[in-house]
Amino acid sequence: MQSNIKYIELPKIKDLRGNLTFLEDHNQIPFKIERVYWIYDVPGGEARGEHAFRSTTELIIPLAGGFTVETQEGNIKSSFELNETNKGILIPPMTWRKITSFISNSVCLIVTDSKYNEDDYIRDFEEYVESYKELV
Ligand code: TYD
Repeated sequence: MQSNIKYIELPKIKDLRGNLTFLEDHNQIPFKIERVYWIYDVPGGEARGEHAFRSTTELIIPLAGGFTVETQEGNIKSSFELNETNKGILIPPMTWRKITSFISNSVCLIVTDSKYNEDDYIRDFEEYVESYKELV
């Protein structure tokens, strides 16, 4: 089985005054944006986002700094080092993910196709494994 996580490279408009990157729903990303949130001021050694979403698709971008996203889709484990502000990963629903190894002053931007809903979270890894088995 192959991973369904995809790298997304966003446009980078280079200019002597600095660079500019953008994204629009249904253009650079394959969904309508319902929510944008960002994680920042993460103390050294801390991890964030250790859970799965039942039906949310998300794009994770290192807006500043860098970090590692560790993922698991069923039995497929992957690790993505993100540190370029125009390069992110698109994560489908039912992916277990954990964000680690934050460089200091990193900003982790997450763009999603759903509003915040605690019922969409699976926070227990065993429950994730069981729910994933029911899908395949
Ligand atoms: P959570 O998603 O658990 O953080 P992380 O996965 O990065 O460790 O969210 C932390 C808290 O913030 C939790 O109480 C829910 C709340 N929250 C919102 O109210 N709205 C949101 O869009 C998000 C992502 C979280």
